[in-house]
This record gives sequence, C-alpha cells and structure tokens, in this order.
Amino acid sequence: MDKLTPIQTKAPLVFTLQWHLTACCEQKCKHCYMREEPTYLSELKNELDINACFKIVDDFVESFGPFCQKLRINFTGGDPLLKEGIFDLINYASKRGIRIGILGNPNLITPKIARKLKRVGVATYQVSLDGLAKTHDALRGKGGLFNQTLNALSILKKEGITTVVMFTLSKRNKKELIPLIKLLNKSKLVDIFDFARLVPCGSGRKLMKDLLSPKEFRNLLLEVFHAYLDFAKDGGSIYFGRKDSLWALLYHQLGLANFIKTKPSTFALRCLACHFVKQKNY
Ligand SMILES: C[S@@+](CC[C@H](N)C(=O)[O-])C[C@H]1O[C@@H](n2cnc3c(N)ncnc32)[C@H](O)[C@@H]1O
Ligand code: SF4
Repeated sequence: MDKLTPIQTKAPLVFTLQWHLTACCEQKCKHCYMREEPTYLSELKNELDINACFKIVDDFVESFGPFCQKLRINFTGGDPLLKEGIFDLINYASKRGIRIGILGNPNLITPKIARKLKRVGVATYQVSLDGLAKTHDALRGKGGLFNQTLNALSILKKEGITTVVMFTLSKRNKKELIPLIKLLNKSKLVDIFDFARLVPCGSGRKLMKDLLSPKEFRNLLLEVFHAYLDFAKDGGSIYFGRKDSLWALLYHQLGLANFIKTKPSTFALRCLACHFVKQKNY
C-alpha cells in the first residue's frame, strides 16, 4: 500500500461536491457529455426526489464536516434550475453551512430568479461561453444565446452573486479563447474564468476530429499564460482558474512550479480533492 501523508498547509481544508442533480436541459449542445450516454434516459426517468436530496446533504455534512473546515456543493446538470424543489434544497444546504455554487444555464435567469438565488444562499453561478457570439451560438445550436448569457451575467452580478464563465475548448473555438477573454475583461461582468478541453464522451464522442493535439494545446497554454500576465499588468479584474492539470506541467517546464517539493527518488502527485500526497518510490 502506498503511504499517504497530509500536505503541510495553512489553507483550510475544503471539500467540494459536484452534484449532477438533473439531466433535464432545454439545450442540445453538440458536445454535451451526458446526451447519447447509455445512462441518459434512465437518468431522466430516475431522478432522486427532493427528500432524498435533503438526506444526501445531511450525509455529506456528517461524513465530511468533521474533517474539513469548509464544505461546498456545486449543483449542476443539465440545468439545475429545472430541478423541482431546487430553491428549498439550496436553502437547506446553505443553512447547514455549505457554500453553494450553480453550474447551469442562462435561460431562466431573470432579476426575480437571481434575487431568489441570492436569498437562498447561492454564492457563485457558472455559465458557459464557448467562443464569440457566432461560434458560441453555432456550437450550442441556439441563436441569440451568447447575448442571453451576457445578460444573465449582468443580472447575477447586480445581485452580488460571483459570476463564473467556463469555456469548452476544441479546434473549433481555440482561436476565440483569447478574444473572448478580452471581451469579458472589458465587460466587467465576470469574476472568474476558466476553460477545459473537450472530452470525447456523450455527444462529444462524435467530435474526435475537433480534439486539440498535445502540441496545439501546449502552444495555446503558453499563449494564454502570456495573455493572463498582460491582463494582470493592465489591472484586469478577472480571476483566471487553472483547472486543466497540464497547467502544472507547463509551470514546471517554465521553472515556475514550486508546489511539488520532494526527494529526487520520490514521485509526488498532488490530489486536490483530499489534500493528501500519494508517495511512491521508484
Ligand atoms: C454539463 S455542463 C452543465 C452546466 C450547463 N448546462 C452548461 O452547459 O454550462 C458543465 C460544463 O461541462 C461542459 N461539457 C459538456 N460536455 C462536455 C464534454 N464532452 N467535454 C468537456 N466539457 C463538456 C459544458 O460545456 C459546461 O461548460
Ligand atoms: S452542455 Fe449544458 S447546456 Fe448543453 S446540452 Fe449539455 S447540459 Fe445542456
């Protein structure tokens, strides 16, 4: 058995549960990870009822509360706002001390809904933008969606909810990643931005030809790295996430990574979820 050693850190231990609450969604994006999965129809038919969801919140708090200083739940889907009882569930979870995020759609966001989300305890709301207007609308199969998404971000921001944008990266939109960030930076509507590579699952399985090659991705990461530095120099206010694990490799190659400090004979793998280092001698 490999030895597990806690990382020496002063940061509070945070455990985040990403909860796929419903497969219901009004959109039909070409790349969607859940559509065309063998489990999709059964997910639609066999959703947990809301009382079972309350019970899961209790289990979550009892299981992880004693070990972690902070608990978070990000409700996602589909569109989590389509889940019956969602506001009660958020309210219940946030009263139990859990910080709540939504990874959802812009479609149902109105000032009234945003106020309600804020009131029940939503701290962050993530929407997707997969390119500039034309590309985003084409990839997501709905005209006007780009503008609708900017409008939703503006409503959420006015309500004091932290706004997050996620970009799903492929050959089809890679040229628009930096232009989109520039546009969002000017708009002042976005607090956090990140991107993740397209994964060939669900409907995305048909898009193998759109996956970036390793070289293409590495070159793009480097370009984005410099763009982020420029935004920081110009006083941009967006926080840029580094969700993709290959950021760590790039930082290592650039001589900027100092978080993996270990003996030369030891291979250390940082596990963000449990804050443990798994060590293996080889
Ligand atoms: C499944 S969605 C749920 C929230 C919401 N419906 C949306 O699309 O933003 C969460 C994120 O996963 C991304 N996603 C969906 N299918 C994917 C795939 N095959 N590969 C990578 N990301 C994917 C979406 O683009 C979105 O940014
Ligand atoms: S990616 Fe999101 S919005 Fe698009 S179909 Fe899937 S769940 Fe719906």
